[in-house]
Amino acid sequence: MTDVPAKDPPARRKVWDVPTRLFHWALVGTVLTGLYLGEYRGFSTIQLHFYFGYATGALIAFRLLWGIIGPAPVRLSALFPSPKAILAYLRTIFTRRPCGVAGHNPIGALSVLAMLAALSTQVITGLCAEDDGLFAEGPLAQYLDSATVLKMTAIHHYSSRVVMALIVLHLAAILFYRIWKHENLVTAMITGWKTVKRDPPNNIS
Ligand code: HEM
Ligand code: HEM
Repeated sequence: MTDVPAKDPPARRKVWDVPTRLFHWALVGTVLTGLYLGEYRGFSTIQLHFYFGYATGALIAFRLLWGIIGPAPVRLSALFPSPKAILAYLRTIFTRRPCGVAGHNPIGALSVLAMLAALSTQVITGLCAEDDGLFAEGPLAQYLDSATVLKMTAIHHYSSRVVMALIVLHLAAILFYRIWKHENLVTAMITGWKTVKRDPPNNIS
């Protein structure tokens, strides 16, 4: 375990802009409700499951757009750390001090990518899935042959398990930062303000 000397004194900085924070907490709502309505679906709730799925899709589309036109910490380019930055960060990950990155740290960036990819898979396969028992199908299923619809429905099932696993990992990582590294990431995602000592985000050296 090596300690990383802070190059600059830590400073309070507005890192997460309002649209990103609204996006995050809205996504928490649509994903958790969507998962619940998918797991416990019935005749009266399957349409509601679809609506929460569309809302999740709209939020992901917004996040991709915001990743192109939004501020530096949320740019898509910041979600693709170099292998060098990843390795350098991994060498210091168990250091018992806040990492203080002005955005996602390199491993956090990879986990955001994984989350967005899993949720996109969930939305796309949902549009092509069907529930025979409930006489319900996603709006694109009618254009596909039945073998493809079956495949999409199976992927929809398995990728929902991947989404669940990523959420558990997400919460475990946040707890790890709070307890082990004494870094409160949640307050930053609520207020936007973070104690920062490294800029730009992926410059971990
Ligand atoms: C784009 C909108 C979506 C549509 C049209 C849609 C459609 C469907 C359909 C037709 C089923 C029944 C599949 C079956 O019979 O096995 C289903 C199940 C399910 N959906 Fe979605 N879905 C959408 C988005 C989502 C999203 C975003 C999530 C999670 C974040 C999700 C989570 C689930 C879960 C957990 C199940 C139960 C899977 C199982 O246990 O087999 N869906 N969905
Ligand atoms: C359905 C559950 C959740 C999903 C799908 C989810 C998804 C995400 C995504 C996509 C990001 C990246 C934000 C961006 O750059 O746009 C993120 C970051 C974050 N999330 Fe969540 N999240 C979930 C639940 C939670 C919960 C319950 C908390 C708080 C206890 C939380 C706290 C955070 C924090 C603190 C960050 C910033 C991490 C960092 O500083 O790198 N998330 N989450």
